[in-house]
Amino acid sequence: MSTIEKAMGRAGKAPGERDNQNASAPKQPAPPKRETPPPPQLGPKGTLQIDFRRLRDHGVYPPDAMQPGLKDQYRRIKRPLLANATGRKGMAVERGNLIMVTSAISGEGKTFTSLNLAMSIAQDPDYSVTLVDGDVARASASKLLGVQGALGLLDLLADETVSAQEVMLQTSLPSLTVLPAGRPHSLSEELLSSERMERVVAALADRNTKHIILFDSPPLLASPDAVTLSANVGQIVVVVKAGSTLRHQVVEAVDQLDGSKAINMVLNQSIGGMGGDEYGDYYGAYAEGR
Ligand SMILES: Nc1ncnc2c1ncn2[C@@H]1O[C@H](COP(=O)(O)OP(=O)(O)OP(=O)(O)O)[C@@H](O)[C@H]1O
Ligand SMILES: [Mg+2]
Repeated sequence: MSTIEKAMGRAGKAPGERDNQNASAPKQPAPPKRETPPPPQLGPKGTLQIDFRRLRDHGVYPPDAMQPGLKDQYRRIKRPLLANATGRKGMAVERGNLIMVTSAISGEGKTFTSLNLAMSIAQDPDYSVTLVDGDVARASASKLLGVQGALGLLDLLADETVSAQEVMLQTSLPSLTVLPAGRPHSLSEELLSSERMERVVAALADRNTKHIILFDSPPLLASPDAVTLSANVGQIVVVVKAGSTLRHQVVEAVDQLDGSKAINMVLNQSIGGMGGDEYGDYYGAYAEGR
């Protein structure tokens, strides 16, 4: 039994468990057969091949192709996050290995940052990472990774017969796993705020503080899903598009977050376009300066 299954079992029902354990209970009608979407195209060893060309076309850089400056900036962004997760430079942040990337408004670079950060963390020999597409409405990360419409987070939350193992995809980067957004659901906000979501997240976080769970998410001022998701994580990265997002928008957005969490800001200067080596500038913990 995997760690995820054990943790799910402790918290309640295991992900794949069916309701047929009590033989004396009245027989329930068989659940409707699940219509499973075709599985994403997997590579030779059952792994999701990361399509670096597609990512590059969208300005996302595979680590090997990252310009040294860009790589360094990601190092600067990830180091304090990883230190908070493991407590290497002080006290570990509670649930610090659960990190959400958000922003005030749309188009500030959350998905770009999530993907690049995930790949940067996956390159670190001491860490592994699961990238969760928590922006279930847009599912941009799933699209970029070629797993749009595949079973994912929403299916895991909506259907107790779906197991975490079924929806988490090992990728061709050995330390990177992906949990796609899943199929659209009309009650996505309710699912994200459900008890099952808490159990799923607790199970993911329980694995090891050196396993980072990184959530791409919607903008705080545009969707209640972002605040809902933030309740589950220990660290939040707020991406701010330089020279674009208004100060009051950032303040209003961050005010919606729980100030007891580790809130960090990334200034995303995407004006230079792809590869502009002024990608991001990490300017520390927001909460401390509040
Ligand atoms: N630092 C950057 N350098 C180059 N291009 C960037 C950078 N950051 C973002 N972009 C580009 O800007 C566009 C918007 O970025 P992205 O999709 O990551 O934003 P988002 O915040 O996730 O948007 P949404 O709110 O719609 O999900 C994309 O085309 C992305 O490739
Ligand atoms: Mg996005």
